[in-house]
Amino acid sequence: MRVIAIVNQKGGTGKTTTAVNLSAAIAKSHKKVLLIDLDPQASSSYWLNFKKQGQGLINVFLDERPIEDTVLQTPYENLWILPASPLLVRVEKTLVTEVGSELILKQRIEELKQTWDYIIFDCPPNLGTLSLNALTAAQEVLIPVETRVMALHGLVQLLNTIKLVQARLNPELKICGVLPCRADFRNNHSKEVLEQLKNRFSNDILKTYIRENIKLAEASLHLKPITNYAPKSQGSEDYHKLAAEILSQDPNFINEHTAQESQEATLSEQMLDMDDTTVADSALD
Ligand SMILES: Nc1ncnc2c1ncn2[C@@H]1O[C@H](COP(=O)(O)OP(=O)(O)OP(=O)(O)O)[C@@H](O)[C@H]1O
Ligand SMILES: [Mg+2]
Repeated sequence: MRVIAIVNQKGGTGKTTTAVNLSAAIAKSHKKVLLIDLDPQASSSYWLNFKKQGQGLINVFLDERPIEDTVLQTPYENLWILPASPLLVRVEKTLVTEVGSELILKQRIEELKQTWDYIIFDCPPNLGTLSLNALTAAQEVLIPVETRVMALHGLVQLLNTIKLVQARLNPELKICGVLPCRADFRNNHSKEVLEQLKNRFSNDILKTYIRENIKLAEASLHLKPITNYAPKSQGSEDYHKLAAEILSQDPNFINEHTAQESQEATLSEQMLDMDDTTVADSALD
C-alpha cells in the first residue's frame, strides 16, 4: 500500500488534474485507489461529479465515525473517493489551534490501509494544516510544477518545508517525484524550464511529463477522468505513462506495460535536441 500526497503551495500547477487522472489511470491497472480530496475548493470531488456529498472529509477530522463510512465508490472500477466540501475551510480554522492537529489524518487512515493499494491526496494551494496533515500521513510526495518559469518560484521553499516535515513529523516521507505539467514544446520557454528542472532536481524529476492538452481541461467539464473522456488523447497517454512510472517505482510491481514504458524515450532523451539555453537560477529561489 502506498500513500502519495500531491502537493504544491502554488495555485494552478496541475495538482487536481494529476490527482484525478493519475488515480484513474492507476485504477485501470487493477489497483484499488482511494482519492482523498483535501482541498476546500473540492475540485477533484466536482471533477468526479461528487458535488453535493455532504460533509465528506470534515467528518474524518471532526468526529470519530469510521472513516470508511465517508468513502464513496465512483462509477469507475477500482476507484473510490473521499470528497471534500467548501465547509472544509472551517476545519482548517478549528485545527490551527489544536495540539498535534497535523497528525489527525495519519491516525485516521491507519484503518484504511488494508483495503486500498493506493491512497492519493489532492492538496490545497497552501502549506496550511490540511497540507501538513497530508505530508504527515503520506509516505511519498508528488510535486506537479507548471513548465513556466514563474511556476518554479516557491519550489525551493516547498522542498525546505518537506525537509522540516521529515525532521519533525514524518521521517519516512520520500519524494516520489517532481512532475513537469503543461509542457508545450511549441515554445522554447517550456523547453528551457524543463532543462532547468532537470539540472536542478536531477534526483527527483520524473521521466514522464504531462503535455498541454485541451482535452484535460474539457474532461473536468464533462466530469470524467481523461482515461474515460478521451482515452486516445495525449492527456490520457501521458497520465497512463505517469501511472506506469509510479507503479514501476514499487519494487514488487512487474508488468509488461511498465517494461514497455521504460523503453520509451526518457525525458533526458527527449531533451537532447533542445537549445543549450538556461533559465535564470534566481527563478528557483
Ligand atoms: N496538461 C494540461 N493541459 C491543459 N490544461 C491543463 C493541464 N493541466 C492543468 N490544466 C488546466 O490548468 C488549470 C489548473 O489545473 P489544476 O486545477 O489541476 O491545478 P491545481 O494545482 O489543482 O490548482 P489549485 O492550486 O487551484 O488547486 C485548470 O484549468 C486545468 O484544466
Ligand atoms: Mg486543485
